[in-house]
Amino acid sequence: MTDALLICDALPESRDAVKFKAPGRGPAFVVRWQGRVHGYLNQCAHVGGPIDFEGQVLERSGRFLMCARHGAIYEPDTGLCVGGPCKGARLVPLAVEESADGKVWLRSA
Ligand code: FES
Repeated sequence: MTDALLICDALPESRDAVKFKAPGRGPAFVVRWQGRVHGYLNQCAHVGGPIDFEGQVLERSGRFLMCARHGAIYEPDTGLCVGGPCKGARLVPLAVEESADGKVWLRSA
């Protein structure tokens, strides 16, 4: 894949994310949710800190991303905050994709 950064060789369905640095943009993560890969900057829409706790981004039920700081919850597929102190705000999405061999990539631009 040209013009893309390899994030990881495989991304299993898990409450844990794979964290990485998005060049020029900062800390980021990818997570698989309901079979699809989603990527966001790791910056909560509330006060901007990372949302994960030791890499875990999905809350106990696996339905929502949850910020470990003050409990904002986000739709995993859209990044929309649907509960907590920044309800209505969004995580910043990244253009990520999975190739046929299961590798996960960040597209440039
Ligand atoms: S920093 Fe995420 S909810 Fe406050």
